[in-house]
Amino acid sequence: MKKSKIINLPKILDRRGNLSFIEAENHIPFDIKRTYWIYDVPGGETRGGHAYKENEEFIVALSGSFDVVLDDGKERKVYSLNRSYYGLYVPKLYWREMENFSTNSLALVLSSTEYSESDYIRDYNLFIQLLNRND
Ligand code: TYD
Repeated sequence: MKKSKIINLPKILDRRGNLSFIEAENHIPFDIKRTYWIYDVPGGETRGGHAYKENEEFIVALSGSFDVVLDDGKERKVYSLNRSYYGLYVPKLYWREMENFSTNSLALVLSSTEYSESDYIRDYNLFIQLLNRND
């Protein structure tokens, strides 16, 4: 099973303002099929609460901060994202929650597949069963 990890992105420092970028398969380990973003999250709200069977993602806090909680069925890790020059690689089959969104935070998510509801596992017990079957 692939591991989740923080990936640092290129950072072009400039007194006019800094610039970072992402090239599919160069900076992140998949080809980008979809991009979405999460914004206007009310204080105290939690997003996520699912895993994907196939989809892989890369999450960047373009603005503000939030935590991504990842669970691979054995271990739970909390990643705090608060800079736009790094992001979190989330392989398939990780249960994830996103929480502690700061006011005006903006989460950019790059995905390896097009949106498909049938790729979601939204029941934690089913997620654990599926992992046990794959072992
Ligand atoms: P969901 O992935 O559950 O949101 P989050 O993980 O951030 O809590 O998606 C919320 C809703 O938006 C759900 O009804 C599916 C829809 N959606 C799309 O139509 N296309 C997309 O690319 C995504 C990510 C979600």
